[in-house]
Amino acid sequence: MTIGIDRIGFATSQYRLSLEDLAQARGVEPAKFTKGLMLDSMSITPITEDIVTMAASAASQILTDEDRETIDLIIFATETGIDQSKAASVFLHGLLGIQPFARSIEMKEACYAATAGLDYAKRHVEKFPDRRVLVIASDIAKYGIASGGEATQGAGALALIVSSNPRTLILNDDNLAQTRDIMDFWRPNYSTTPYVQGAFSTQQYLDCLTTTWAEHQKRFGTSLDQLAAFCFHVPFPKLAKKGLDSLMTDDLTETDRDRLTSNFDAAITYNRQIGNIYTGSLYLSLLSLLENSRALEAGDQIGLFSYGSGAVCEIFTATIVDGFEQHLRTDRQAELDLRTPISVDTYEALFYDEAQLDETGSTSFKTYQTGAYALTAIDQHQRIYQKVN
Ligand code: CAA
Repeated sequence: MTIGIDRIGFATSQYRLSLEDLAQARGVEPAKFTKGLMLDSMSITPITEDIVTMAASAASQILTDEDRETIDLIIFATETGIDQSKAASVFLHGLLGIQPFARSIEMKEACYAATAGLDYAKRHVEKFPDRRVLVIASDIAKYGIASGGEATQGAGALALIVSSNPRTLILNDDNLAQTRDIMDFWRPNYSTTPYVQGAFSTQQYLDCLTTTWAEHQKRFGTSLDQLAAFCFHVPFPKLAKKGLDSLMTDDLTETDRDRLTSNFDAAITYNRQIGNIYTGSLYLSLLSLLENSRALEAGDQIGLFSYGSGAVCEIFTATIVDGFEQHLRTDRQAELDLRTPISVDTYEALFYDEAQLDETGSTSFKTYQTGAYALTAIDQHQRIYQKVN
């Protein structure tokens, strides 16, 4: 029996900000963002789109009635929690109509949690092969207006159905994690935006990558020439590119180098346009690779590097399943192009928009463009979600 990712769903917000426009507004040379960070645009959310609505939109694209009956574990990874007590997965369970005898939890460790969620899902299916697990990675990256990380914001949700005999990717048994107690990026409970030591965070990302990869090679005998592609956590594509460059040692042949580089380009196609979506970024890159590479074949091995500030990272590999392309989409780019371009003024207005609660703790929101679900109101401090499309 194999275990892995059977299908992948993805949703982002309906608005996008061009990074050239942002650069001009901030008095920065546009090439710094488009070439220096390798970012073209970022998804911006209105107040009616949050981690639950994006997760519900992503999951509803791939869920079948059989999934609704078989899923008995929903793992929601996020660092954009909407409630300090109730897990976002419980809202999602209700919105998606999953059968009642399910466990629904939320997991957090910065941009890393979805990877721990995926491993938990794998272990669950190992024990209960007839069951499926819904793993969600949903976040809104918000650094702050005119902050150092502003150009690396974004929003999006991935929905991964984990099952036995998966039709897209088999998860191999070679996960290796590393933990370091550092302060490179963190968000205290009292702050809506993170504190970040930018340069330090990029050094830590790269050092965690190279040291974990060295240990992975030692423990599992992995090597870059056996891999068709390497996917990375993508806070911004240039850092992932530096990651790949740091792994490609001089002994690698030109053919291996070309393969890894061209698949890397396929793997950042979506991330360039959406921005950082924190814990979902690695899985967005994986989806981007699977949907945009013309060179992948059944049996190909893919390396994955997950990194969450704080910090926990993990490297593992996956194997592509025969017929994987039948479970992907070919119209994703067209959908991304449909996002409404917004001005920097509109982006700033959306950024600062906050729920104005009345004395009962209630408010309703004006209508914005959203995916299939929206946060339509807050009623006596309770978030009200509805299917709208
Ligand atoms: N044309 C072309 N390139 C240009 C340029 C121009 N006119 N001007 C600058 N550049 C290049 C620079 O040379 C640099 O490239 P290299 O790194 O290859 O030298 C690149 O643009 C960025 O320039 P700076 O380093 O000067 O940019 P900065 O200091 O203003 O900000 C940053 C960079 C610190 C990463 C900032 O974007 C930031 O704080 N981001 C948020 C933190 C982050 O994403 N950290 C990543 C690791 S932590 C993590 O992974 C978890 C997570 O998701 C947050």
